[in-house]
Amino acid sequence: PYSSADKGWLRYEKRQDLPCLSTIVRHSSASGEAAESAIRELRYAILQMTGNEPELIATANLSETAAHGPHIQLAMVTAEDLPEALQTKELSQHLGEEGFALRSLPQEEGEAVYIIGKTEKGLLYGTFHLLRLLQSEGQTLPQLDIIENPKNPLRMMNHWDNMDGSIERGYAGRSIFFKDNQFVQNDERIRDYARMMASIGINGISINNVNVHKVETKLITSEFLPDVAKVAGIFRAYGIKLFLSVNYASPIQLGGLETADPLDERVGAWWKTKAEEIYDAIPDFGGFVVKADSEHRPGPFTYGRTHADGSNMLAEALEPYGGIVIWRCFVYNCLQDWRDRTTDRARAAYDHFKPLDGQFKDNVILQIKNGPMDFQVREGVSPLLGAMPNTNQILEFQITQEYTGQQRHLCYLIPQWKEILDFDTYAKGAKSEIKKVVSGELYPYAHSGISAVINVGDDENWTGHTLAQANLYGYGRLTWNPDLSEQQITSEWIHQTFGNDHDVVEQVSSMLAASWGIYESYTSPLGVGWMVNPEHHYGPNVDGYEYSVWGTYHFADCDGIGVNRTVKDGTGYTGQYFPENAERYESLVTCPDKLLLFFHHVPYTHKLHSGSTVIQHIYDTHFAGVEGVENLIQQWSSLEGKIDAKRYAGVMARLEHQHKHSKEWRDIINTYFYRKSGIADEQNRTIY
Ligand code: GCU
Repeated sequence: PYSSADKGWLRYEKRQDLPCLSTIVRHSSASGEAAESAIRELRYAILQMTGNEPELIATANLSETAAHGPHIQLAMVTAEDLPEALQTKELSQHLGEEGFALRSLPQEEGEAVYIIGKTEKGLLYGTFHLLRLLQSEGQTLPQLDIIENPKNPLRMMNHWDNMDGSIERGYAGRSIFFKDNQFVQNDERIRDYARMMASIGINGISINNVNVHKVETKLITSEFLPDVAKVAGIFRAYGIKLFLSVNYASPIQLGGLETADPLDERVGAWWKTKAEEIYDAIPDFGGFVVKADSEHRPGPFTYGRTHADGSNMLAEALEPYGGIVIWRCFVYNCLQDWRDRTTDRARAAYDHFKPLDGQFKDNVILQIKNGPMDFQVREGVSPLLGAMPNTNQILEFQITQEYTGQQRHLCYLIPQWKEILDFDTYAKGAKSEIKKVVSGELYPYAHSGISAVINVGDDENWTGHTLAQANLYGYGRLTWNPDLSEQQITSEWIHQTFGNDHDVVEQVSSMLAASWGIYESYTSPLGVGWMVNPEHHYGPNVDGYEYSVWGTYHFADCDGIGVNRTVKDGTGYTGQYFPENAERYESLVTCPDKLLLFFHHVPYTHKLHSGSTVIQHIYDTHFAGVEGVENLIQQWSSLEGKIDAKRYAGVMARLEHQHKHSKEWRDIINTYFYRKSGIADEQNRTIY
C-alpha cells in the first residue's frame, strides 16, 4: 500500500524475538478515519516484523472477544466495558484530547496490550508509540503502563515548497506536493509522508512557501481548492490539519480591489467570503501562515497599519470556523546601510512586536524564529520569546539545513534545539524556560507550540543526507515532549532506522552527538555567524555579507571582531532580555565564550574563559573541526557491512564531500584572520 521511497524510521525490519501477536481487537468505540489508519499501520507493521498478518476482530463487547494468544486491543477511554483495571481515575482525568494510554494486562486468552485514546488521534499516536517500543526493546511485549499527552498543542511543519516544484532552501530534491505549477497526481508519497509525520506527533502542516508568489496566491481559489482539499483529506486520516501560506495582498491580486488595507471594510469582507469558500472545501482547514512586511512581502505597513491590525483582520475571517492565523515575526529592515552602526537587525522583531502585546485576537499566534537573526549555527535566543504574556506565541525552528551544511554536512540539530528549549528567559522568575513559554504553561495562551521549516523533498531518502532524517524525527519527538533527552531520541531513531546492532547504535549516536560542534568549529567562531556566500548560503565567504544591505555584519578589522550589542556603548540589544540574561550578556566577564562575538566587539588578543585568545581560538577550532570530520569518516567506515550498501555509500559520499569542504572553510577563515590580524598561530600550523 505504500510508496517505494525509503521507509525512514518506519522500516519495521523482520525480527525473530517478537511474540506472534495474532489478533487485533477493535472495540466499536475505536472508529473514524484516524483509527482506521492506526489499525492499518498496526497490521502492516506486525506483518513486516513477524511475517504474520494479525487477524482483525471487531467487537462491541470487550469481555467477549475471541482473541487467542498475545493480542492488541484498541478502545476509547469512554468505552463502558473496559476491563476494571483500566477504569481508573488517573486515566479518565489525565488523558488529554490527543493523549494515549498503553497498558498491558494478562488475560485468559493471553497477554493483551490496550491502546486507549480519548479521541481517535490518541489511538493513532498510541499505535505509533507501541510500534516504536516494539522496535526499540524487542524481546517480548514490554510491560506497559504509560499515559502520555503532548506537551505542545501545536506541532507544526512549514514547507517552503513552490508550485513549480522547487523548494526554497530545499536540499533534498523537488517538492512532494507540486510539479509544473500543478499538484502531483500520484499521492502515494504524500500518504507515506503523512504517516511519518503522524508517527512523530505532527498535527499541522503548511504546504507552501511563506514567500507566496503569483501561482501560489491562487491556492485559495476554485482553481486549486479541490486539490488542496484532496491533500487535506490524506492528512486528516493521520490527524493532521492542513494550513496554507497566503499572500497578504490577495484582495488586490485575486479580488480586484485596489487596496489590502486591513481597516478598509471591503478588504475584511473579501477575506470573509474567501474563508467561507475555503471552509466549504475543507471543513477542518487549519488556517493561514503569513509572512508580511518582511523581505519585500506585502503587509499592513503599506497602509500605515500595525501587524495587529493586519493579523486581526484575517483572524476575524477565520474565527467562525475555528481557524487560526500564524503571523511571522521575521520583520526587519533588509535594505540597511552597512555604514550605519546604530541599526541592529537583531533588535527588529522585539522592537516591532513587543509594544503590541495584548492587541492581538485570540486566534492569532506570533511565530518567532529561535534566534533574533536567522537560523545561524549559533546565535542568541530571541528575546521576544516569553516577552509577551498576553499574546500567543509559537517558536520557529529550521530543520532544513540552510546555514548548517545544507544536508551535505552532517549537523544533528537536536542538541541545538534542546539548548534553546531549555533556555531560561526569567520572564516570570527562574525556571521560565522557552519550552514552558511555547507549551502554554507559563502564560495561559489560547494557542501555542512549535513550528519548523522542514527538510524533506522527493529524494528517495526524503532528506538528501540519510542521517538528516534524524533531525526530522527528533524535531517531532521534541515537540511532543521537549523533556526527552538527546540520547533517548537518538537511540529511538537509530534502532528504528538501522536496527539493534550494538556497534551501529554506538557509532551513529556518537557521530550525531559530535556533529553540530564539529560544524560550528570550522564555520562560525564564537557566535559571529554569516561568513557564507551570499544568496545560496553555502561555503565560506567571510566578507560575503559585510558591505551588504542585510544587516549581517562581523565588523572585523586589523584589531578585532564582533558586534557590540551592549546597552553601555553598543546597539542596546542586550537590554531586550530580562535582567538576569541582560546582565550576563552585557558583561565581558559573564558573557559565555560561545556567544562572545554575537554580543561584543573585542581585540583578537582578548582572553576567553577557556584561557585561549580569540585569534588562537579561531585557529584551533578550525583545525580541530577538520579533524572532527576525519573522525566521523573513520566511525562510519567501521560500520561497513553492518548497514546496507546503498545507505552506507550515500552517507560516505557526503562525509567525503564534507571533509573536502571543511578544509576549504578552515583555510579560508584562518587565512583571512591571519592576514587581518597579523598574529601567527602559536602552533605554527600551515596558514596561507
Ligand atoms: C531566510 C531565508 C529565506 C526565507 C526567510 C524567511 O532569510 O534565507 O529564504 O524566505 O528566511 O524565513 O522568511
